[in-house]
Amino acid sequence: MERVLIFDTTLRDGEQSPGATMTTSEKLRMAHALDALGVDVMEAGFPVSSPDDFLAVQKIAREVKRPVIAALARAGEKDVTTAARALEEADNPRIHVFIATSPIHLADKLRISEDECIQRAVQAVELARRYVEDVEFSAEDATRTPLPFLARVVEAVVEAGATTVNLPDTVGYAHPSEIDHMIGTIQETVANAASLVLSVHCHNDLGLATANSLAGVRAGARQVECTVNGIGERAGNAALEEVVMALKVRSDLAEVTSGVDTRRIYPTSQLLTRITGLHPQPNKAIVGKNAFAHEAGIHQDGMLKERTTYEIMDPQMVGVPASRLVLGKHSGRHALADRYRVLGHELSQKQVEQAYRLFKLLADQKKEILDEDLLAILHYGAMDDIPAHYKVEVLEVTCGGEWSTATVTLMEEGDLPRTATARGDGPIAATLAAVDELVDERIRLEELTIRAATPGKDAVGEVTLQARIRGITFTGRAASTDVVDAALRAYLNALNKAAQARVLEARALQAAGDLWGV
Ligand code: KIV
Ligand code: ZN
Repeated sequence: MERVLIFDTTLRDGEQSPGATMTTSEKLRMAHALDALGVDVMEAGFPVSSPDDFLAVQKIAREVKRPVIAALARAGEKDVTTAARALEEADNPRIHVFIATSPIHLADKLRISEDECIQRAVQAVELARRYVEDVEFSAEDATRTPLPFLARVVEAVVEAGATTVNLPDTVGYAHPSEIDHMIGTIQETVANAASLVLSVHCHNDLGLATANSLAGVRAGARQVECTVNGIGERAGNAALEEVVMALKVRSDLAEVTSGVDTRRIYPTSQLLTRITGLHPQPNKAIVGKNAFAHEAGIHQDGMLKERTTYEIMDPQMVGVPASRLVLGKHSGRHALADRYRVLGHELSQKQVEQAYRLFKLLADQKKEILDEDLLAILHYGAMDDIPAHYKVEVLEVTCGGEWSTATVTLMEEGDLPRTATARGDGPIAATLAAVDELVDERIRLEELTIRAATPGKDAVGEVTLQARIRGITFTGRAASTDVVDAALRAYLNALNKAAQARVLEARALQAAGDLWGV
């Protein structure tokens, strides 16, 4: 069977979803997980957009060697040269150039003619080809572009050296029959179509992103652009797990297969969830909490008699662990590392040690440690590598009356511990107010979510928050059996990320002068 290439854009289009901002080290962690998942192409970022993005693409290009590493660039000189620089150390670099082609974008956004659009596209592709052999061109808003003009654009960019041409449904407007027609027409009318890989990139505004991607593949597209958990602008992008599993489960219909290791789907989805704090809806296909839960008695009865009565795929096929094995305070390092392996995480010796230390602390507070507890330990503690600019020394809270009061002692790097007491409308508000008094930052808390990781009164509470610090939103997260403590640590996590971002930015700016200026 023919191969369809899976182009993952979790780190670029996905990261553009509100609340999905990732630090460079989080992107790197995700990039390694995507490599293990088996994606063919990984879009690592949009280097010209910020020093942080540049740095993330550069680091991924340096460290992740198997897949093609793509960097996005608008059709302009500075974008293309910056993308090329970020990709310098990649083994398999791709520059992904785009320009909008629809009448509405040409007239109202770019204010250029059709001829000028083609000229810019061709110049950018030619320039990109001077740096790399592998150049992708995207006609933004392709599905609202008249087909004769779209065909002219495609022909011109292929002539200029584009090896992949992507036809995005940028605003999630198309129906599957239109995608089929668009791909078919381009193949029939573009003279040099046989020499290129056609690609689809579908957004989910009408809930059709997966269906449209499959329609594209059926019509002859051989690359699908998608994101883990379907995160992305507005309603998101086509979900990688849905596209891949639809091709696999219905291999009788699909004419292609993907190179994705489907058993890595669930662990990768979980990693992204913990990094971003964006939990897929419970009924989300493949990776939602209830995707394999059978509630109705009649279904349970059927399942017990024959699993396939109500289940079209084995949960283990997508890496959902078979049982929620319980560990306790007497379990050792080996049992812990083994369980992480079953959950899809191969830990380094250092990570095992760190996870074990946190596991023992938790086991003193909880009788049974479930898989969700282990994942909380891993993602909120053992893998968190943000330097602790601020550390909590003491937290004392009184609540229950009209106002709550919190006393917090913080240690700031290079300084002596300082203490503040504040009142608030509840223990979390009081705690965060005390931190505000201690740190020299204006912080706007945009969102705070508390979620129980496990059932029961002794559940671990996971806190995810978005804090705006000096004009940038940072995601803070932490887990603890005490939710006030978790909220405090999540707040400090966001503050530590802001401090680290400033350090990295200063370093990047020093190294690159004022190259970006955008
Ligand atoms: O949706 C879109 O059109 C895009 C392009 C930049 C590929 O994300
Ligand atoms: Zn997009």
